[in-house]
Amino acid sequence: MTLSRRHLVRNAAVLGTAAVLPAAGSSWAATPPPQRPAPSRRRGKAPSPRTSATEPFTVPLHVPVPLRPRRMIGHDFHQLTTAESRVELLPGAPTPIRGYNGQFAPLIVARRGRPVLIRQVNRMDVPFAMHLHGGHVPQRFDGHPMYQAEPGDVRYYHYPNKQRASTLWLHDHSHGDGHGHEHSDSAESIYRGLAATYVLTDGFEDALPLPKGRYDVPLQIRDAKFEDDGTLSYDPQGFADRPTFLVNGRPRPYFEVAARKYRLRLMNTANDRFFLLRLRDGAPMTQIASDGGLLPAPAQVWAVPLWPGERIDVVVDFSNYPVGSQVVLESLASFPGETPDVMRFDVVRKADDPSRVPGELRPAPDLGTPVLEREFRMRFDPQTGRHLINDRVFDMHRVDFRSRLGKTEVWRVVNEDVEMGLPHSMHPHLAQFRILDRNGRPPGPTEAGLKDTVTVAPGETLRFAVKFTDYTGLFMYHCHMMNHVDMGMMGQMEVVR
Ligand code: C2O
Ligand code: CU
Ligand code: CU
Repeated sequence: MTLSRRHLVRNAAVLGTAAVLPAAGSSWAATPPPQRPAPSRRRGKAPSPRTSATEPFTVPLHVPVPLRPRRMIGHDFHQLTTAESRVELLPGAPTPIRGYNGQFAPLIVARRGRPVLIRQVNRMDVPFAMHLHGGHVPQRFDGHPMYQAEPGDVRYYHYPNKQRASTLWLHDHSHGDGHGHEHSDSAESIYRGLAATYVLTDGFEDALPLPKGRYDVPLQIRDAKFEDDGTLSYDPQGFADRPTFLVNGRPRPYFEVAARKYRLRLMNTANDRFFLLRLRDGAPMTQIASDGGLLPAPAQVWAVPLWPGERIDVVVDFSNYPVGSQVVLESLASFPGETPDVMRFDVVRKADDPSRVPGELRPAPDLGTPVLEREFRMRFDPQTGRHLINDRVFDMHRVDFRSRLGKTEVWRVVNEDVEMGLPHSMHPHLAQFRILDRNGRPPGPTEAGLKDTVTVAPGETLRFAVKFTDYTGLFMYHCHMMNHVDMGMMGQMEVVR
């Protein structure tokens, strides 16, 4: 932490990378992501050029109200119907979406130790398989394509919720006709709206004085491309042409906040886009959690690198701003010509604030001593246009390896795409992991907690320790850039006794 903030922010603007984070322990500097930073602008100047579907900050943030479960003995029961419907994402131009219960980005709040049962009806004309990303869930309920619901089908999902409080999400994991075709529908269905927030709470977290209730806000951040009539246009390889940023399904919204601390659950639900989020005035944020819940200790950050599938919770203290001020959250990693604005916080009132961020949060669990190491080489094959893991594309009829229940493994993820400069991520189902090192260097405080999705820069090698427990069967692992998944970058493991 010897670099000055100015220095860091300047580097962020130049590189658009996470290397600017004093705490990231990451090495993006050597390998900028494919997106280039937009030139940084001074506060107060009008955005130019305007490429979004709507003028920034003209639409209020949608804060989802948790879906109301039926409280049954021993569990919460939800009905989730997936269907095509129309939702007014942009003012005055309803957008056809694929949603849950007619909603775009709804919210389920669940409690550790209290299972959730979901009756899921697929009223779409495409298959659907629901996956709880980050969830510790039996094979049957994990969204494996062999169980996918064809149009008209009904499925039941049982989520045990035997894991730490964390921000998870529910998204489609269907795969074509379910018979092993390489093409997947899930990328398109996620893009069209099948991404719900699933906040898992527990007593440990409740006992901490962190911001709670209305001061704890999930923010699903993603990009999209709209036609003038409000239609979402989708091109699997069109990741560089999705200029509208959505937060909880609204274009670059504003959010009226009180002058106090908020917990913001930043989630990247975009198919392919990297966000490097910061407050435009350069004020620090306090990172308290990553994919798997609270960090061992909070970390001060000036920018948050958020790759597809990842979640990072930060606490932002708006009491540092006089009532009447406006604070923009922007992404330093936008494509040229894009508006970097993500959303704006409008400080509109004073409020009491009994919350604070303790100096210690939650120790990371001990995952035990590894018994073996596996290697995953990630690369794009320009010959075939496919994305490969260990030289293979996904085949749901092939088991790529077997893992033993309860044995700790090390996964070494090597990104071989140096020439193409492509980032790749790794996301195993069933378990969350702990990062051991990046290019041999231990992780910084922001990566010291549990994670389930991690991105590896071109040329970089990352190792994490993971232990699969409780449930045997077939589980997927994959890159979470959806256009890469679409082109084969997924594998299947079998967890055995
Ligand atoms: Cu969010 Cu299999 O992934
Ligand atoms: Cu997942
Ligand atoms: Cu990839």
